[in-house]
Amino acid sequence: MASSDAAGSATSRHAALVEAARRAREHAVASFSHFKVGAALETGDGTVVTGCNVENATYGLTICAERVAMFKALSEGHRAFARIAIVADTDAPTPPCGACRQILWEFGGDLEIVLANLTDEKGRHRLRDLLPLPFDSRLL
Ligand code: THU
Repeated sequence: MASSDAAGSATSRHAALVEAARRAREHAVASFSHFKVGAALETGDGTVVTGCNVENATYGLTICAERVAMFKALSEGHRAFARIAIVADTDAPTPPCGACRQILWEFGGDLEIVLANLTDEKGRHRLRDLLPLPFDSRLL
């Protein structure tokens, strides 16, 4: 395969993941903040598992889109992960919160983090750069 083909398929894989996160965002239950977030997690075998944020009346039991996606994937038996796309309707990219970084690290390792809004991709990061000096089971 020519390298341009490989690059092209990687680009379309990222674009498809972002699109899946945009669709998942439409299901967000953001009754209190009205800040809707979608996430799409690509597993090691290429399966895409989506999530959206879910808020409730106690506020504190809110769960972010990223953790919904990861817990759904784990509950369906997935244990290897490649990347996650995160979408919000903002100019500035919406990176995962601290709690999500911890969960993504523990179950997904050094994921690629793809940030986007409703129209554009806004950046790519490695999780190790967003969560330096992580605590995990190797330290127990
Ligand atoms: N939220 C996410 O779902 N993911 C993020 O990366 C940032 C924040 C949610 C939590 C809450 O429902 C709303 O966005 C406002 O913080």
